[in-house]
Amino acid sequence: MESTPKVIDSNILNRKSHFSFSQKPVEEEHLLLVFEAARLAPSSYNAQPWRYVYVEKNDEDYLRLLSLLAEANKVWASSAPILILSFAQVFDVKNNRANRFAFHDLGLSTSNLMAQATSLGLATHPMGGYDVERAKEVFRIPEGFEPGAMIAMGYPGDPTTLPEDLQKRNFAPRMRKDHSEIVFKGGWEKK
Ligand SMILES: Cc1cc2nc3c(=O)[nH]c(=O)nc-3n(C[C@H](O)[C@H](O)[C@H](O)COP(=O)(O)O)c2cc1C
Repeated sequence: MESTPKVIDSNILNRKSHFSFSQKPVEEEHLLLVFEAARLAPSSYNAQPWRYVYVEKNDEDYLRLLSLLAEANKVWASSAPILILSFAQVFDVKNNRANRFAFHDLGLSTSNLMAQATSLGLATHPMGGYDVERAKEVFRIPEGFEPGAMIAMGYPGDPTTLPEDLQKRNFAPRMRKDHSEIVFKGGWEKK
C-alpha cells in the first residue's frame, strides 16, 4: 500500500492527545453531542457495553477521579475541565454471558467520542495511567464491568506554557507504524 492517503477525515487527522486545556467550560450541548456520538457506535450483538462516568472541574468528585491518575498524568490532566472514566461490560450477569468484544466495542465508542469532540473544537487525551483497582473501589462498579480509559477533555489551552518536557511531547511529530507492518493482503505470511 502507498503512504498516507491524500484525503483523511479531518476529525481523524486533527485529533491528537493534548497536554494543555483552557479553563473555558464545555457547554452542556457539546457534552451531549460527544456522548451521543459515543452512543452511536456499533457493537457485537448491539450489546452497547460502554459506560461513561464524567466529572466537571467544580464537582466534588473531580478530585476523586483526578487522584486516581498516575503522577505523570496528574501534572497536565489537572487542567482539564472534564474528566471521563470509561467502563466495559465484559460479563452480562443476567444472562450469564461473557462479551469477548466488550473492550473492542468500548474502543469504537470512545473513538467516536473523541472524533466528535475534535469536530467541536474540543481537545481530548485518553489515559491508561491510573489506579484501576482503586477506581473499582471508589466507583463501586456493578458486577460484570471493568474500567477502561480515563479521558481528559476541554477546549485546547496554550501548550507554550507547559513545562519543557510536556511541550516536547505535545509538539512531537505523530509516530505511527508503517502500513507494511500492520496491513497484510491475503495473510500474515504473504508479502
Ligand atoms: C488506552 C490508552 C491509554 C493511554 N494512556 C496514556 C497515559 O496514561 N498517559 C499519556 O500521556 N498518554 C496516554 N495515551 C495517549 C497515547 O500515548 C497517544 O494516543 C499516542 O502516543 C498517540 O498519540 P496521539 O493520540 O497524539 O495521536 C493513551 C492512549 C490510549 C488509547
